[in-house]
Amino acid sequence: MRIIGISGSLRRGSFNSALLRAAVELMPTDAVLEIAAIDQIPLYNYDVEAGSGIPASVAALKDRIVAADALLLSTPEYNNSVPGVLKNTIDWLSRPPADSQRVFGGRLVAIMGATPGNYGTVQSQTAWLPIMRTLRAQPWFGGRLAIARAASVFDEAGVLTDDTVRAQLRDFLQGFVQFVSVLRSPKSPSSA
Ligand code: FNR
Repeated sequence: MRIIGISGSLRRGSFNSALLRAAVELMPTDAVLEIAAIDQIPLYNYDVEAGSGIPASVAALKDRIVAADALLLSTPEYNNSVPGVLKNTIDWLSRPPADSQRVFGGRLVAIMGATPGNYGTVQSQTAWLPIMRTLRAQPWFGGRLAIARAASVFDEAGVLTDDTVRAQLRDFLQGFVQFVSVLRSPKSPSSA
């Protein structure tokens, strides 16, 4: 099983990117998490889409998502909602409308996040849900990982050093992989 992971932060020292790197290491043995960067995704502009079509960086990311079994978002929280750079990426990925179903329709998605603040990106994670609904994706609700006070669980190099949080991340990944394997199984009536 292959899962594509996207961090919603461009920051070099990003906690959310660090969380995704920790997830790569803690994935169950029967699954692989591949990190996809979004730093080459331009700002969405309909004039660009109408004039020259979908940018190559967007088309390539769409194809990677389609070829994978599921998507894992590691999201910051900005002003109690989703971060603009990740929303911008998702918006590009949803274009053109005729191709949105291929990329997002029934797409199995898990959302996690980390913040130096006290509330663990709970509001951001909730704010993603109407977006996922609009895209007809299929979010996983069986687990939750909302890391608060991130500066105390990652070290200076961005390594997840807190054993309790490592165990929470491992459980979260295990649960999501289990969900994906059931829904992607050839016997499942809901698989394509
Ligand atoms: C923030 N931050 C923040 N944190 C939070 O827990 N709730 C919030 O509503 C906000 N709002 C917010 C708005 C803006 C514009 C910025 C720049 C930051 C702080 C944020 O969690 C912090 O910068 C994280 O470090 C961002 O995630 P990365 O870059 O570490 O992955």
